[in-house]
Amino acid sequence: MLVSATEMLKKARDGHYAVGQFNINNLEWTKAILLTAQELNSPVILGVSEGAGKYMTGFKTVAAMVNAMVDSLGITVPVALHLDHGSYEGAKACIEAGFSSIMFDGSHYAIEENVAKTTELVELAHSKGISLEAEVGSIGGEEDGVVGAGEIADPAECAKISGLGIDFLAAGIGNIHGKYPENWKGLDFDALDKIHGATNNIPLVLHGGTGIPAGMIKKAISLGVSKINVNTECQLSFAAATREYVEAGKDLQGKGFDPRKLLAPGFEAIKATVKEKMELFGSVNKA
Ligand code: 13P
Repeated sequence: MLVSATEMLKKARDGHYAVGQFNINNLEWTKAILLTAQELNSPVILGVSEGAGKYMTGFKTVAAMVNAMVDSLGITVPVALHLDHGSYEGAKACIEAGFSSIMFDGSHYAIEENVAKTTELVELAHSKGISLEAEVGSIGGEEDGVVGAGEIADPAECAKISGLGIDFLAAGIGNIHGKYPENWKGLDFDALDKIHGATNNIPLVLHGGTGIPAGMIKKAISLGVSKINVNTECQLSFAAATREYVEAGKDLQGKGFDPRKLLAPGFEAIKATVKEKMELFGSVNKA
C-alpha cells in the first residue's frame, strides 16, 4: 500500500537523514528503485514528472502499475508515489488518479497566486490523506523543457507558503536540475540556514540531487533538508551501462537482443545508483 510522504519525512527530519525521491520513467526504473529500497530497508519516494506521466500513458496507468508492483514484489518499506513539479491541473489529476503525494510548483506565479493555489490544493490533498510539497524560488536547469534560472528563495516568502499547512517545502538555494556546470558556485548554505530558521522546522526538499558533492549533501541535511530528489543520475548510469552492453556487441550474441537481457545492465546500474544515494542520505534501515 502506498503512503503519504508526511510521516517518513518528519521521521527523517527528526532523525537527521533524508529520504530520496527517485524519478521513474517505466517498469524497469520502478522495479529497480522499489527492490533497492526493500533490500536496504529504506523508505522511498517515487517521483513522476508530468512529462514522464504522459510518457507512461497517463497518471492512472502509473498509479495502477506502482500499486500492483508494490504488491507483487512484496514491498513492505514505506513507498510514496509523488507528482514532481506539478501544475495546478496536474496536481488535481494525480489526486484523482491515486497518487499518495503531490508537488504543486507555483514558483513561477506571483507569490499571491502561488499562495492562493497552494491553499486550495493543500485542502484538497489533505481531505484524501495525500501529502503536499510546495515550491518557492524556481530551481534552475531544464525539466520537461522548462528552464529555470536557479533562484535563491526569499525566506519571508518561504515562511508565508510553509504557513499554509503544506507538508514539505522546496526552496531554491542555488541548486539546479541536471548536471552542474563547471563554474557552479555550490549550494547557498547561508540562504538555507535563513529559510530553515523562517519555516518552523518544516521538512525541506533539495531538488537537483544529481552531482551535488557528498559533503554538501551532508551539510544540507544538517540544515533541515529531509528529502532529496534524484533524476538525471539514474538516467546517466542507465545510459552508460546500456551503451557498454551494445558497444561490446552483446546484443548480437545469442539472444542478447531480448529486451530482458538488453535492459538488464541498465537496470542493475539504476539499482547501484539508488543504493549509493540511500547510503549517502542516511535512509538505510530507517523503514
Ligand atoms: P536531477 O535530475 O538534477 O537529479 O534533479 C531531480 C529533481 O530535482 C526532480 O525534481
